[in-house]
Amino acid sequence: MKGFESIAILDFGSQYSQLIARRIRQCNVYSRIYPYNIDLEVLKSDGVMGVILSGGPCSVYSPSAPLCDKKIFDLGVPVLGICYGLQATVKLLGGEVARSVAREYGHAELEVTSDNPLFDGLDKNLKVWMSHGDKVLSLPEGFCTVACTANTENAAVTNKEGTIFGIQFHPEVVHTPRGVELLRNFCRTICGCKGNWRMESFIENAVEETRDRVGDAGVVLGLSGGVDSSVAAALVHKAIGDKLTCIFVDTLMRKGEGARVREVFERNFRINLKYVSAEGHFIEKLAGVADPETKRKIIGREFVGVFQDAAKQIEGVSFLAQGTTYPDVIESVPIGGNPSSLIKSHHNVGGLPEKMHLKLLEPLSRLFKDEVREVGRQLGLPEEIVMRQPFPGPGLAVRILGPVSPESLALLREADWVVVDEMKKAGLYYSVWQSFAVLLPVKTVGVMGDERTYENVIALRVVESVDGMTADWVRVPYEVLGRISSRIINEVDGVNRVVFDLTSKPPGTIEWE
Ligand code: XMP
Repeated sequence: MKGFESIAILDFGSQYSQLIARRIRQCNVYSRIYPYNIDLEVLKSDGVMGVILSGGPCSVYSPSAPLCDKKIFDLGVPVLGICYGLQATVKLLGGEVARSVAREYGHAELEVTSDNPLFDGLDKNLKVWMSHGDKVLSLPEGFCTVACTANTENAAVTNKEGTIFGIQFHPEVVHTPRGVELLRNFCRTICGCKGNWRMESFIENAVEETRDRVGDAGVVLGLSGGVDSSVAAALVHKAIGDKLTCIFVDTLMRKGEGARVREVFERNFRINLKYVSAEGHFIEKLAGVADPETKRKIIGREFVGVFQDAAKQIEGVSFLAQGTTYPDVIESVPIGGNPSSLIKSHHNVGGLPEKMHLKLLEPLSRLFKDEVREVGRQLGLPEEIVMRQPFPGPGLAVRILGPVSPESLALLREADWVVVDEMKKAGLYYSVWQSFAVLLPVKTVGVMGDERTYENVIALRVVESVDGMTADWVRVPYEVLGRISSRIINEVDGVNRVVFDLTSKPPGTIEWE
């Protein structure tokens, strides 16, 4: 990125490539992931200060093993190979790699056997985390061993010039407790990066770039109240002020959400906000529709229509700003069937820019989520927005199983509000990925006072996750579950039973529809 020193990470299909990139950024150095077969001219023109070769699922001696251009070692910048990256380095430079007798997986004790800047400031004995089936048998000419473990003689190696390094363990995972320090030694000491990647400078840079690109044109942005679109709105507004108009389509949102978005953006930030109350329209279009995919399609189609109608009323618009983040745009080449190397589908763009003949403005497209949140904080957004849980585009419609009606929406909204409120009171709301209520399409028999009831069931879903791709259900303390359940039954008319969802993803999805 213009104005920032950077480290390139060549992705060989590791599930940890993004983690390496985030760790480098924790060292205040900008990092970017490239496909392993990237043209080296791109790295040159991007002015990278160092290269990391990631791990990967393949074996270097398999015929389909991905290998990068050997000239990477002549780029004139330091190179660090991690796990598969080490093995690829050894193979490319003439050493030998072979299958280990035993696959080494998990914790290992590393012994640093000779001084090396990679281990500056670290102890001679370090806990590290291994995950490999192959190992380095003989080193390329001019290389020497720097560290070993009981099973791996060449656990860290370097060349005599001190420009090429390789480690068999994973410094990026939390199970290598001092791994970030090692990565810091690489990017700061060895590559010479000064550490200028800070969110203050990012903001200054992005503001300037946005102004240059937009000129006198108008920009429209679909504000959902979620972290990404909110931070994008605050950033673009800082850059171009009144030339930005945000459109907030109030669809099937949670209780109080529309009003809060207006308060923050219209009143506090003084951003031009077009508020479109569309709940009735969506309920009408969804009447009687029970199939989940059909519901999603209707909502997607109607949203685009409502948004376009609102956008047409704004004059001089040439850009559509979106809160796309880095994980949405990382290019990767599928390798060895590893799911992490598949390109993630982007379900929020929805073809809007093409339909509206607008140019895209994506000021956050180089940031990871934690960086987006930091930018939001620095721009003065309240913590409740910066830390907001993800919320699906189709809103509460996918949490009302079966057809949506004004009554079912009102019921779910109240029940969901209790979940949010109690999770916040218990101090758990911001530490879980999502916590919400789902209205089931069944009725059950109950008893209230002396009377028999026959009413609705609410399911409670609380999950932890890193990226929404996999998730585990949260072991919420019984007292909190108890309070949520009794408050929903006492306060929400039409509910006589609350159940708790104990399903991880996979096999379940996070949402029920
Ligand atoms: P699933 O249900 O597929 O959800 O496990 C994974 C994550 O994505 C969110 N989700 C959506 N987000 N538009 C979005 O922006 C959508 O259509 C959508 N559907 C699901 C879901 O809340 C979870 O965090």
